[in-house]
Amino acid sequence: MIRLAVLISGRGSNMIRLAKAIKDYEIAAKITVVISNRRCTGITLAQNCGLATKVIKRKDFNTQAEHEAAIAAAIHYHRSTYVFLAGYMAILSGDFVNQFAGRIINIHPSLLPKYKGLNTHKRALMNKEKYSGCTVHYVNSRLDSGKIILQKRVKISKNETEKTLTRKILIQEHKLYPKAISKIFNL
Ligand code: GRF
Repeated sequence: MIRLAVLISGRGSNMIRLAKAIKDYEIAAKITVVISNRRCTGITLAQNCGLATKVIKRKDFNTQAEHEAAIAAAIHYHRSTYVFLAGYMAILSGDFVNQFAGRIINIHPSLLPKYKGLNTHKRALMNKEKYSGCTVHYVNSRLDSGKIILQKRVKISKNETEKTLTRKILIQEHKLYPKAISKIFNL
């Protein structure tokens, strides 16, 4: 059984989609714990699904290293072997990433290597891109730069707004993340 810890910071829709895919037996994995660096909707949703949750706030620690040590401890406590980032809004240090080398995965709302970082849809629209999309990738110590696992391309239509593009891509994210799990673990 593959044991996944999921790190979130907000809405948690990708996390819920992973939980649902697991529940529907699309994928043979277990979400051991949902960890957030703030109180957020995703934590409430996870609790409603009966998942173990933990809020570990940065402000409760003196240093980033101590904060990340607490996150790592929670991951280990729940005997998780993989870490899935699903809208986790903090940059993890190289030390943290190296601890879980090759076992941290992220979903990003652009066709990487294009548009790393924030405001991906806004920037894609400003640059009049014809396509954007989403990417599932391994996390390394450089932002949004790890090896790509899967991508889905989405056509940007003429009257696209940031809001419509966000919605369109999020729908694809929800399909891509469970698919990526199947691919990673050959399920
Ligand atoms: C998604 O667009 C994901 O690609 C990005 O953050 C957003 C999280 O959304 N990393 P949600 O919290 O899963 O709804």
